[in-house]
Amino acid sequence: MDNFEIETLAIRAGYDQTAEQENSEAIFPTSSFRYESAAQAAARFSGEEEGNIYSRFTNPTVRAFEKRLALMEGGESCVGTASGMSAILSTFMGLCQAGDHIVSSQSIFGTTKVLFTKYLAKFGVEVTFVSQTNIAEWQSAIQENTKAFFLETPSNPLTEVADLSALSALAKANACLLIVDNCFCTPVLQRPLEQGADIIIHSATKFIDGQGRGIGGAVVGSAELIEEPVRGFMRTAGPTMSAFNAWMFLKGLETLPVRMRAHCESARELALWLTNHSAVESVFYPGLESHPQFELAQKQQSAGGGLVSFKVKGSTEDAWSVIDNTNMLSITANLGDVKTSITHPATTTHSRVEPEARLQAGITDNLIRVSVGLESIEDIKQDLARGLDKLV
Ligand SMILES: Cc1ncc(COP(=O)(O)O)c(C=O)c1O
Repeated sequence: MDNFEIETLAIRAGYDQTAEQENSEAIFPTSSFRYESAAQAAARFSGEEEGNIYSRFTNPTVRAFEKRLALMEGGESCVGTASGMSAILSTFMGLCQAGDHIVSSQSIFGTTKVLFTKYLAKFGVEVTFVSQTNIAEWQSAIQENTKAFFLETPSNPLTEVADLSALSALAKANACLLIVDNCFCTPVLQRPLEQGADIIIHSATKFIDGQGRGIGGAVVGSAELIEEPVRGFMRTAGPTMSAFNAWMFLKGLETLPVRMRAHCESARELALWLTNHSAVESVFYPGLESHPQFELAQKQQSAGGGLVSFKVKGSTEDAWSVIDNTNMLSITANLGDVKTSITHPATTTHSRVEPEARLQAGITDNLIRVSVGLESIEDIKQDLARGLDKLV
């Protein structure tokens, strides 16, 4: 289905109908698979014959999700995982060894930072954090043993946009991989492989599911980088995506293009409205001309995305009061849901990051992140206005 548009791939790619001729994808909730004979079992285990063995390795529903997402991202291979974090873990465990070095944007999800500094460090993988947007810092952080660059763009929660073409050129010139967490944009808004990235990571928990129902992740890239290294780790260590979740994410992919466009439209409107509110100090949204990387975002994303962050004029208490005065918005750390969510990053998603590093990354106490859902934008504004108007 290589020649189809992303809207068609999202609905039709990756699935082989069974003999039952079902129209909607079937779920295969089975731990293991049967063989016609002992000889066939032996052939499957030796790799002589391709086919399913055990659902920690492969499962038809998970494979359908993997194929569909790979086609949507423009990648050769994809591995589904139990969570976004296990997608990141499987990637680095599969591709790195003791003595390797990673250059990472400092503006990444807090838990990813903890994974790097607390856990990968124990196995001798060293990480240097640099500014998401300053290419010179990436360049000067490169060492002889640098294996990979890692970033999210736009970043969470400040929506800083990394220059994918420039970073991929730098990575290639230094024989290292560019690994991009694309969960904020999804392939609907941005296809980093086309801009020179080597590996894409997803938390399928976010926009891919889109309705806040379950946890999952994925890694996409060339067969060489994905199959033996990442799938090999995943099938051995076991952070496998379940068939039930794969089915749910397949259904999520079907509506992803339509949902992403609607999220972006509302997010842009909310960002503009917040810009004009007198209780708001600053707004972070790549679809606004006031965003420092607006032109870059226009070049590499087809829209601004569904996340808007803003700083209120005030302190933690003021930010909390805006959150606590909402009636409809979900006070929750998840994002990418049809239900709008509101979060105070400094005390939730990024609370495990050292205060100094948090401040260096710009995550101040007055910052609020909104993942704009698909409710009426007027109702979302009204819910936020309740707390904001009290700060004026
Ligand atoms: C950008 C980003 N990457 C990865 C993750 C981790 O995903 P999961 O919660 O599915 O493990 C998150 C979770 O919030 C995230 O925001």
